[in-house]
Amino acid sequence: MRKLIKNGTVVTATDSYKGDILIENGIIASIGADLSDDAAEVIDADGCYLFPGGVDPHTHLDMPFGGTVTRDDFESGTIAAAFGGTTTIIDFCLTTKGVPLNESVAAWHAKASGKAVIDYGFHLMVGEVNDNVLLELPQIIEEEGITSLKVFMAYKNVLQADDGTLLRTLQLARQQGALVMVHAENGDVIAYLIDKALEEGNTDPIYHALTRPSVLEGEATGRAVSLTELADSQLYVVHVTCAEAVEKIAEARRRGLRVYGETCPQYLTLDVSYLERPNFEGAKYVWSPPLREKHHQAVLWDALWNGSLQAVGSDQCSFDFKGQKELGLGDFSKIPNGGPTIEDRFSLLFSEGVAKGRLTVNQFVDIISTASAKLFGLFPKKGTIAVGSDADLVIFDPNAQRTLSAETHHMRVDYNAFEGMEVIGEPVTVLVRGEFVVRDKQFVGIPGSGQYLRRSRFGQTVNVPPKAAETTERVGP
Ligand code: URP
Ligand code: ZN
Ligand code: ZN
Repeated sequence: MRKLIKNGTVVTATDSYKGDILIENGIIASIGADLSDDAAEVIDADGCYLFPGGVDPHTHLDMPFGGTVTRDDFESGTIAAAFGGTTTIIDFCLTTKGVPLNESVAAWHAKASGKAVIDYGFHLMVGEVNDNVLLELPQIIEEEGITSLKVFMAYKNVLQADDGTLLRTLQLARQQGALVMVHAENGDVIAYLIDKALEEGNTDPIYHALTRPSVLEGEATGRAVSLTELADSQLYVVHVTCAEAVEKIAEARRRGLRVYGETCPQYLTLDVSYLERPNFEGAKYVWSPPLREKHHQAVLWDALWNGSLQAVGSDQCSFDFKGQKELGLGDFSKIPNGGPTIEDRFSLLFSEGVAKGRLTVNQFVDIISTASAKLFGLFPKKGTIAVGSDADLVIFDPNAQRTLSAETHHMRVDYNAFEGMEVIGEPVTVLVRGEFVVRDKQFVGIPGSGQYLRRSRFGQTVNVPPKAAETTERVGP
């Protein structure tokens, strides 16, 4: 059955225009003024924007972390994502030293399969580089289309890799056409500061922030940039929170390095004072890197505006306050790090960005969808509205007003990090490959209908100097 969406305003990263969209076999078949098709189901989008579905490049679903497991799995997490206007996620597949990488990838496939209601891909964590990893990684990149590798520079004795591992991962990525992602904080110094704070009897959530100062994010970001330059490789810095890190990325980009950065809704809207909330409520706002002083927010908005940062990922990593965040009562270092953000990422960026005049509506589309699709090898299948692209579409009412709350959200978690925030704009209907997942604000999707995405290599779907794009053959879309 064909579908025809009429009377909406089509918005891409470059254009906004009144247009109708005809969908056939899950693909955008035609875009134009006054399209008609007697056999098609007609959907009226009068007064609404038609956005490409959001691409969230940073999620942690069903992930073991901090002695517990995230509350949202690939079913509840992708349902919440769809309600929020996101139609593609790229989740982090964690690995364990000494365990074959393909076992971890198989485990992540098992978590997602039969559950996801939107499309998904995986990034792969690299915690060590040895002969086995050097043998396995090129195969995984080729066969699984996993073309982004994650190195943690923090979480000492848990996920952290050393600088030699980061350099070798960057070198391998250069050869194979992969994009290296880093969590950039100086894990060794943070471990020392945490021990010192606890020895001195400082156990409250605020010490999470005080032991992870922004200078250590800036330092690690600069170090990752230097190693990227040495390897002539490509780098994507996840969850950038502060002026120090933005400056390192901006400077690298001014020098023509292939360095990219992402921030998250929580760093754009919340600040460190939330960690001081009474009755241990501050634990709800424990992320790594931590929330910062308010003045960093303007720097992040400017960086999105001027292109120093390219994307906003959710860093969805949800834990209940009761029973999970409470693991850190009496010891802030045991509070599971992360929060529920997958559902509100899209609307927060629209409301705080477009409605408040900080971004144009085309910049919004770029940051929420197109840039990630390009960087992570999914464009133009995902990330835009064009003939031949997947019909992943959001019918968005830009005039709706609502209040974000745990009472109305769809994440499987007992609090909302943005509780009480008023937002303008709301996804009304969301389609993935032409099928309704949310229709008139009701869930109508099917768990298991989300498809795994094999992604193209870095340089195939994003503009880079020709020399850097010399990779092996194209995979994926
Ligand atoms: O606090 C966070 N960010 N939790 C998720 C894991 C990570 O570091 O991205
Ligand atoms: Zn991280
Ligand atoms: Zn994360």
